[in-house]
Amino acid sequence: MNLNTNYLKLNESYLFSTIAKKVNAYAEAHPDKKILRMGIGDVTLPLAPAVVTAMQRAAGEMGVKESFRGYGPEQGYPFLKNAIRGYYAARGISLEEDEIFVSDGAKSDVGNILDIFARENTVLVPDPVYPVYVDTNVMAGRKILYADATEKNGFLPMPDENADADIIYICSPNNPTGAAYSAEQLAEWVAYARKRGAVILYDAAYEAFVAEKGLARSIFEVEGAKECAIEFCSLSKTAGFTGTRCGYTVVPRALVRGGVSLNKLWLRRQTTKFNGVSYIVQRGAEAVFTEEGMAQIQENLAVYRRNAAVLSACLDALGIFYTGGRNSPYIWLKCPGFADSWKFFDYLLEEANVVGTPGSGFGKNGEGFFRLTAFASEEATAEAAERLKILFSK
Ligand code: MLT
Repeated sequence: MNLNTNYLKLNESYLFSTIAKKVNAYAEAHPDKKILRMGIGDVTLPLAPAVVTAMQRAAGEMGVKESFRGYGPEQGYPFLKNAIRGYYAARGISLEEDEIFVSDGAKSDVGNILDIFARENTVLVPDPVYPVYVDTNVMAGRKILYADATEKNGFLPMPDENADADIIYICSPNNPTGAAYSAEQLAEWVAYARKRGAVILYDAAYEAFVAEKGLARSIFEVEGAKECAIEFCSLSKTAGFTGTRCGYTVVPRALVRGGVSLNKLWLRRQTTKFNGVSYIVQRGAEAVFTEEGMAQIQENLAVYRRNAAVLSACLDALGIFYTGGRNSPYIWLKCPGFADSWKFFDYLLEEANVVGTPGSGFGKNGEGFFRLTAFASEEATAEAAERLKILFSK
């Protein structure tokens, strides 16, 4: 019996688990302190009323013989896939129903999609980036190249013709830096991928935060992207589904490598290893895409945007460099007075009882940076901004 020793190459625990452990230990030792948690990007506002009503109705249906449902289609019910099609169509993107795969969230799909790619592929990952892209490829033993995302390139690396990559990860708006690509910039990545026969794994989990014109919300805004890209989307941040769990992945039919349809491979993978998202949750997700649901989620998104503006204004007043906070729920700041992100994490936790995420947890270029989220409550965000002001104007 041999273990997958690639796991031994990983940090002992996942970034957000390490943070939770540290914060819990601090909270236990200091029960009198009010800790403001702005580390993991977890939402705090409740589900939209339209979503709750739809799920209640669906739960009722499950309790009646005539409307009870057992296993559903592994790739999602047509009613939800059609709602998602409508969401894309409103932005001028036409998708077929069988190009959409409903799942329990983008994190699982971003990791699971690797099942359809050979281990021998070389992967290109931006640095810093959401740790799941790197960790899942380390687990598989794949070679990883890094595209530097720095202040110099506005945290938006562009293709390097010398990088020999087969699988390319793009996250826009980016986690953790908040930087977002324009459709013109994505067109360069699409051209690069097509030329090389590579596949882009495009994480659009934060697309709903794009507010500025000219920035892309989907890679399929770019012509030719359907021949080289898979898009991952999630209702976690868009509609507060972090605890409810629902996302979707778009694998275009036109995406073919070596004469094989990736859509067919993913379908084969999902039908074998996944039994679909619960009917109740899918009914809730469907409600997100109704006119009423869309208006209600916008109210929540507006709160998070205001939180981002409060944190940005605080950093502006303190003269601390940051990016994000616009078109993104993340604020990516340069640690004032600290070169080590984890030391800054400890300092902020101890001196202000504010939790963030150390930039180095997202890659070597994140060292000296720190991520705050706009997903806390309005009260907690205002209080955190006050505490930062007091701490750093000393
Ligand atoms: C984050 O904080 O980066 C996200 O919440 C992680 C995730 O979406 O899995």
